[in-house]
Amino acid sequence: MHAIVVKNWLKGPNDMEVKDIPVPTPKSNELLVKVEATGANFFDILMVQGKYQIKPPFPFTPGAEFAGTVVSAPANCRFKTGDRVFGSNPTGAYAEYIAVPEIQCFAIPSTLSFEEAAGLYITYPTSYAGLVLRADVKKGDWVLVHAAAGGVGIAAVQIAKALGANVIAAVGNEGKFDICKAQGADHCINYREPDWTDKVMQITAGKGADVVYDPVGLVEKSLKCIAWNGRVVVVGFAAGAIEKIAANRILLKNVAVTGVHWGAYTRNEAERIPEVWEALFKLAEEGRIKPVVWDPVFEGLDKVKDALKAISNRETYGKVVVKPTSTPARL
Ligand SMILES: NC(=O)c1ccc[n+]([C@@H]2O[C@H](COP(=O)([O-])OP(=O)(O)OC[C@H]3O[C@@H](n4cnc5c(N)ncnc54)[C@H](OP(=O)(O)O)[C@@H]3O)[C@@H](O)[C@H]2O)c1
Repeated sequence: MHAIVVKNWLKGPNDMEVKDIPVPTPKSNELLVKVEATGANFFDILMVQGKYQIKPPFPFTPGAEFAGTVVSAPANCRFKTGDRVFGSNPTGAYAEYIAVPEIQCFAIPSTLSFEEAAGLYITYPTSYAGLVLRADVKKGDWVLVHAAAGGVGIAAVQIAKALGANVIAAVGNEGKFDICKAQGADHCINYREPDWTDKVMQITAGKGADVVYDPVGLVEKSLKCIAWNGRVVVVGFAAGAIEKIAANRILLKNVAVTGVHWGAYTRNEAERIPEVWEALFKLAEEGRIKPVVWDPVFEGLDKVKDALKAISNRETYGKVVVKPTSTPARL
């Protein structure tokens, strides 16, 4: 099969190479899945450079999210050959086939395509857990979502709207306003403008945002436009810097600053995971959330580098998806 193979730390995604390697042999708890679509992530760039927290032994195939068709399944498993599944693994998704533990897969809801399901596994539960488990978003709350057109941001906009909140989408480029509005944002602002916190105060008629969902690293500034009893959810640091917050600013408005680390629920609070997925599948069935896929979808593993370049240039919205070309005759 074709797969991206990394044999040493690379300067960047441009140095990634597609190789012909054997189809992986699944272990007794694993599905073999023919990958129809993969979700690209910024951390893929860090991983191939050796700068990510996970440093796989060489050689490895990067890529963490996929959707595809089950080729083989262990006995007594939830899936059978031909089922449509999506899932995640730390590595292995930029390939035509992946062997992955059954427990890391879900059935694709009938309403979703492979491309839509490819980027579902990380973004939606992160945003649901952040907004519901951590920030307790309620109907009528003002929710300010930073990087609102990005992977977790667009999911947060949809989920907050489905919960009955009023959503302010904050992005770094006005060209992204339309996509945010199409996903349900009530107001859009550009956080590259110096007066964006004033705009939040105007939009909320002087109250401020009840909840700030922050995958960027804008907590300090957001405290200027947060409401009394406001909640800040620290999701990530897309801007690169990890902020240090003056604690008096948290005290002044009775603010709660909370984090969400969805990937760590598996080892710390696994019992909360099913409730998150059940809620998300229900929202998907009701048509109240639907993954947004960046246009164009990239075709072929040799285009993964272009997909990752588009992410690092901040050009994209929603999930960036790559479809590996298939070689079914090789199995
Ligand atoms: N805590 C968790 O469990 C969890 C789970 C998933 C992801 N995350 C984190 O959440 C963050 C966003 O992930 P994502 O999947 O939504 O990424 P994404 O789709 O690549 O979106 C990131 C967005 O951040 C914005 N941004 C602001 N400043 C930026 C800068 N200096 N450089 C690049 N982008 C910048 C960009 O939007 P604008 O152009 O509109 O500013 C960009 O589109 C990442 O830091 C990721 O690690 C955390």
